[in-house]
Amino acid sequence: MKLAVIEGDGIGKEVIPVALEVLAAFELGIEKVPLELGYARWQRTGAALTAADLELIKECDAVLFGAITTIPDPNYKSILLTLRKELELYANIRPIKPLPGITGVTGRRDFDFVIVRENTEGLYSGLEELHEDLAYTRRVISRKGSERIAKAACELAKKRANKLTIVHKSNVIKADKLFLDVCRETAKTYGVEASDMLVDAMAYSLMTQPEKYDVVVTTNLYGDILSDMSGALVGSLGLLPSANLGEKYAFFEPVHGSAPDIAGQGIANPLAAILCVKMLLEWAGDARALLLDEAIAHVLQKKIITPDLGGTAKTADVGHAVVEYLRSRGTNLNV
Ligand code: NAI
Ligand code: MG
Repeated sequence: MKLAVIEGDGIGKEVIPVALEVLAAFELGIEKVPLELGYARWQRTGAALTAADLELIKECDAVLFGAITTIPDPNYKSILLTLRKELELYANIRPIKPLPGITGVTGRRDFDFVIVRENTEGLYSGLEELHEDLAYTRRVISRKGSERIAKAACELAKKRANKLTIVHKSNVIKADKLFLDVCRETAKTYGVEASDMLVDAMAYSLMTQPEKYDVVVTTNLYGDILSDMSGALVGSLGLLPSANLGEKYAFFEPVHGSAPDIAGQGIANPLAAILCVKMLLEWAGDARALLLDEAIAHVLQKKIITPDLGGTAKTADVGHAVVEYLRSRGTNLNV
């Protein structure tokens, strides 16, 4: 496997090296292709992402990505959005479930759901106009885009509880009616039990009745917001991984951003990035992915936790503890 590695900016540079150490413990013989993209590179060279970078990335099978600080230039086109579009990574899969011994703001641990976020259109269309006194961003919902994300969600639902919740705001936003209709039709074709929720009510319900949900399919911006909110349910934004999937490529990244408020201190929680390694192994069909659940449970039980979870461990300490556990357990063991 050829893996493009983009650490990016801020804590991306701290958590991705730790994730790579963990990945190395699995001895997969991965060929790594490091790429320097992001704000720091833009400051130095004036280019945040070039056509040559894109070519290199497209020659890889998968990408491990940290986070990129938004570049303060009115003409800046988001690197992440460009990559998601160029690689046609239309499904952003964000599993939300508690980790052993960690509780979030609600104190609840009885939930296990997956946000399936449409990743290429919606309000992230890039079709925008910025004038002195008026600005527009066009919200794009297409049948094709809605159908492919609905199919991805239904396929996932079939492997889980066969239950789908479609999240939208079609009472106010006309474009959402198309998304809702296509998702409903697709669920019917798949024989998946579907219900729907308005996004504002869903935000409340996810905090008060999270156990009700299994697979949640939604448009780009709602998925973005609901997943950060779900970080509070799990216990930290530093605990949520994601996989951006298309027909050809897979792109793994923590849900969080570059966190400039804590960058450079070595205290970022690397578990989201380590869980990205788990998602990568699962995507590659490697059953040893499950060993990472064991390893993470072990470090949490030993309270090797970063300040966001109330601990004093450094990013590297958590990584070393995970790798040490994997080494002692032996990653060649049958699981
Ligand atoms: P953020 O996700 O970087 O941080 C939000 C809060 O969560 C901060 O208080 C931060 O310290 C905390 N946090 C995030 N990850 C953490 C971790 N692993 N361990 C401990 N605490 C963690 O969001 P923010 O501050 O709004 O954005 C910062 C920059 O990142 C912006 O330039 C934004 O545009 C960019 N961004 C990039 C993303 C990406 O490249 N995928 C995603 C989200 C934001
Ligand atoms: Mg986000």
